[in-house]
This record gives sequence, C-alpha cells and structure tokens, in this order.
Amino acid sequence: ASSLPDGYSIRPACKSDYSQFLDVLRVLTTVGDISEADWAERYDWMAARKDEYFIICITDDKEKVVGVGSLIIEKKFLRNLGIVGHIEDIAVSKDQQGKKLGLKIIHALDHIAEKVGCYKAILDCSEKNQGFYEKCGYKHAGVQMAHYY
Ligand code: ACO
Repeated sequence: ASSLPDGYSIRPACKSDYSQFLDVLRVLTTVGDISEADWAERYDWMAARKDEYFIICITDDKEKVVGVGSLIIEKKFLRNLGIVGHIEDIAVSKDQQGKKLGLKIIHALDHIAEKVGCYKAILDCSEKNQGFYEKCGYKHAGVQMAHYY
C-alpha cells in the first residue's frame, strides 16, 4: 500500500481535535451546534469504551485534521460469539479529497477490525459512494433500512 502524503499522519482522535474534527464531519452531514463541553462529554464516554469505539483521524503537514473515521465493535452470540465491526462516519475535507486519504482511513479501520477479531466489517453508504467502498475492497450486500424517530 502507498504511504500518506509527506507530513501527513494517521492517529486516534484526541480531545483537543474538537472543532477541527467536527468541521471535517460537516462534509458528511449535519453535525449541529456542539459545544466543547458537549464534545468532551461524548468523547469521554467513548474513551471509557476504548475497546468498542475506535475513532481515528488523518492530519496534514500542518497538523490540521483533514480526515476522520470510526469503527464500532459489536459483540454477538451467533457465529460462536462472533464480533462485527461497523464502519461509520467517514469524511475527508473537500479540498483534500482524491488523495487516497479516505482509502487510508478504511484500511486503518479494517486493520483494527481484523486485530480485534471481527469476522466482518459492514457499513451503510449512499449509491454515490459505492464505487469508493468497492475500491476499498467492500462488496454490495443487502439493503439498508432505517426508521427515524
Ligand atoms: N465513487 C467512485 N469512486 C470513488 C468515489 C466515488 N464517490 N470517491 C472516491 N473514489 C475512488 C477514487 O477515485 C480512488 O480510486 P483510484 O484508487 O482508482 O484512484 C479511490 O476511490 C480512493 O479514493 P480516495 O482518494 O481515498 O477518496 P477520498 O479521500 O476523496 O475519500 C470519501 C472518499 C470519504 C467518500 C470523501 O469523498 C468524502 O468525505 N465524501 C463526503 C462524505 C461522505 O460521503 N462520506 C462517506 C459516508 S458513508 C460512511 O461513512 C460509512
């Protein structure tokens, strides 16, 4: 696999990423008006479950967050107490798209999922992103259903 552009790195998200992390997520969908205290509370909740919530980011050569992604671990009874990884909330800043950063995020999360012992990783995406996930090695499987409350 090719490496990240010079000066870029990939690492777990940290608490001080607050506004930069949320700004990257805004590329994906509505994030809302989240205060730093709100962020900290949710961050701490996830950090207390660090075996279940893997939140990562890519930073550029100025250490600015330019890509984000999450892996959530689900433990099951079936498949002999199987473990499933859920890939969620993948986003790359508009001006940084097309540099394989999205691919790197998925590869990193796949690597974690495999190490944790997941027998598969799954995700939901829009049709326009199907090609991207196929490039990442994912295959179309099933139909997404949603019930919004
Ligand atoms: N359709 C088809 N192919 C694509 C698409 C697409 N929409 N996007 C990227 N690709 C291809 C690229 O051309 C590249 O192919 P190549 O290896 O042949 O050159 C390959 O996929 C890897 O692309 P990257 O450069 O890694 O993609 P990028 O860094 O731009 O990230 C992403 C892709 C995350 C979809 C980005 O465009 C983005 O943030 N979009 C807005 C937010 C979004 O929709 N996120 C996904 C939500 S679904 C979820 O989170 C589970």
